[in-house]
Amino acid sequence: MLKKSEPHLSYTFPRTKKKIKNRSVLAAMTNKQSHGDGVISNQEIKWLSRRAKDGFGIITTAATHVSKYGQGWEGEFGLFEDSFIDRLTLLTKNIHKYDSLIFAQLFHGGMRAPEKLTGQVPISASIIPSDLSSTGFTKAVSIKQIEQLIYDFSSAALRCVKAGFDGIEIHGAHGYLISQFLGKKTNQRKDNWGGSINKRAKFLLRIIEEIKKVVPESFIVGVRISPEIKELGIHLDESLELGKLLAKTEIDFIHLSCWDCFKSSTDYPKDKRTLTEWFTQSIDDLPTVISTGGIWSTKDAKAVMNQGADLIGVGRVAIPHPEWAANLNIKDYSPQKMPFSAEDLRKADLSKIFIDYMKNWKGFVKDEK
Ligand SMILES: Cc1cc2nc3c(=O)[nH]c(=O)nc-3n(C[C@H](O)[C@H](O)[C@H](O)COP(=O)(O)O)c2cc1C
Repeated sequence: MLKKSEPHLSYTFPRTKKKIKNRSVLAAMTNKQSHGDGVISNQEIKWLSRRAKDGFGIITTAATHVSKYGQGWEGEFGLFEDSFIDRLTLLTKNIHKYDSLIFAQLFHGGMRAPEKLTGQVPISASIIPSDLSSTGFTKAVSIKQIEQLIYDFSSAALRCVKAGFDGIEIHGAHGYLISQFLGKKTNQRKDNWGGSINKRAKFLLRIIEEIKKVVPESFIVGVRISPEIKELGIHLDESLELGKLLAKTEIDFIHLSCWDCFKSSTDYPKDKRTLTEWFTQSIDDLPTVISTGGIWSTKDAKAVMNQGADLIGVGRVAIPHPEWAANLNIKDYSPQKMPFSAEDLRKADLSKIFIDYMKNWKGFVKDEK
């Protein structure tokens, strides 16, 4: 059997032949640092560029909304207008200076796009209760709206091409619009867009298809999914079916959002396999696999590669430790854990807004009162 590579060694995407200097991926992280009109700010560019400068192979932006009404958070930069392209070009040029790839994470919040932010009752696959709606419920999208949303995704992807991104990650994870279509509880449609997993996946599959029509061959297209979200009715068996459907498309990577790469499935707690192993051992011909969740040390990164992941995604460790990826050649590298002082985070190029946001993540920022 071939020995798996090491986290600090380079990787080449099989189809596009795009090469990265190591196996590290900065996972998408909402940081609220951009402008109210959707323009990316210098602060957000600075935060991402620092992680490229310090050694990450791939930089993924925060989730960015493809439609004006899909915004999930304050201070989120958008992709819904051509006028955003110039500033985004500044971002991609900065990242390329450091020889990293840059992907944008495309999303629509659906039921999680607050009305107080968008001025519209949130939409979803079906009518479902929503605290973020003035009516207490979402509106179910019409077929015409579905087509418009698919067009919004492909238009946003084309803007990314124009802005110099190397690729995109379609955000099908974490309970936003695409996962609301995937979930059995959130998608109760009786038409072709609901029912079996094949039908619930149609929204995502059409988005991929339409994006592939407008982007050049060299452009990387991948999908992030959550293998299990009980509240939405997303379960492992069907996620593996989805994985098989995705493996038949022309996507370049599948990104598994595990939250904890070392735990087993909540649907099959007695089976020792991790979520990554369930995928890599059950599906032939998977594209490049990225796995993210709970990775902190070189040992963790190596262990997740041994589970079958090609690339290692990290979120939280990259916030205080922008140089994380450059240390992956050190066998026993395991940087300091939380809590971090505001000063530590300022030194890591986070603005006050982002530091304040991180205070919502329990125990992450030192209480300095
Ligand atoms: C501050 C913060 C913001 C996040 N925003 C996003 C996001 O915009 N899109 C996304 O897919 N995941 C988001 N995540 C999840 C991360 O990408 C990652 O999957 C998660 O933090 C688990 O990895 P970790 O244990 O390395 O932090 C966010 C996580 C954090 C900590």
